[in-house]
Amino acid sequence: MAIREANSSDKSHILKFCKNTFSWGDYIKDVWNYWFSEGNLLVIERNTPIGICHAFFSKNQVWLEGIRIHPDFRRKGLASQLIKKAESLAIQKQISISHMLIDAQNKPSILMAQNLHYEIYQTWNFYSLLPEKKSCDEISFESRIKENEFSHYVKSWRWLPLDQKALFSLDSKNCIINSTKKGKKTQAILKDSEHFKKTLIVTLFAGSKNNNVNLLSYLQNFGFEKKYQRLQILTKEMLPEFKNLEYKISFHLMKKLLS
Ligand SMILES: CC(C)(COP(=O)(O)OP(=O)(O)OC[C@H]1O[C@@H](n2cnc3c(N)ncnc32)[C@H](O)[C@@H]1OP(=O)(O)O)[C@@H](O)C(=O)NCCC(=O)NCCS
Repeated sequence: MAIREANSSDKSHILKFCKNTFSWGDYIKDVWNYWFSEGNLLVIERNTPIGICHAFFSKNQVWLEGIRIHPDFRRKGLASQLIKKAESLAIQKQISISHMLIDAQNKPSILMAQNLHYEIYQTWNFYSLLPEKKSCDEISFESRIKENEFSHYVKSWRWLPLDQKALFSLDSKNCIINSTKKGKKTQAILKDSEHFKKTLIVTLFAGSKNNNVNLLSYLQNFGFEKKYQRLQILTKEMLPEFKNLEYKISFHLMKKLLS
């Protein structure tokens, strides 16, 4: 069993078994070209490719995504081998933290990660919100997020460290919004999806109910004005009942310290 970087002829083999992975299908076809061009798209093969895992390296963190093993070859330790390979690449780069995101209902995958000494670090809820013309008030655009206040923000479904550099860059591009009505403020980071057109990905740090509702109203209207098709909201909190806001699923953000 060999592990290597993907080449351009792997795509068709991989997509054959990454169609109906989950009840809703799979997204590998939508991200393959992007991940391939980023590099570190690992393939495990026996005559033909039978498993994949993509590793994305950022400052002191490796993000593991798209772990898939052909159904005929599961429970043979192949996913574990791919993950260990990606971890060893991270260690070579002096990276000390590995993360992956797993559907909280995906027991096999959670067991696999725990078997490799990952722990459930945080749990995040995914909501979708339909754009709609709305009025809202008291939204400001400057960063009120302090360094170390929150650990991560979401960029194209990757949880990236919210360090000083990221905060500065997000703030300078007006990606951080706040609702500061009475009560605890609500804050959000807005990023366009790199894989899906007209999709806005929002990391939301919830505050008081009136600030949450105000910020959701702003997002709906912003989505309407900017002609987004989908607003995807990721938050650690549960959000209030809100028209056209739909709770979808929860994910565990898994973490492992590498040595
Ligand atoms: C999850 C998945 C990647 C695991 O791949 P795999 O190669 O079968 O995993 P491994 O053989 O390395 O499993 C290692 C350990 O994980 C646990 N595990 C894996 N699959 C399991 C299952 N179906 N039920 C229970 N435990 C399971 C076991 O502890 C296993 O060790 P064991 O076989 O000695 O008991 C594979 O089932 C898959 O492709 N699933 C669909 C896509 C998916 O869910 N991807 C993960 C998204 S993060």
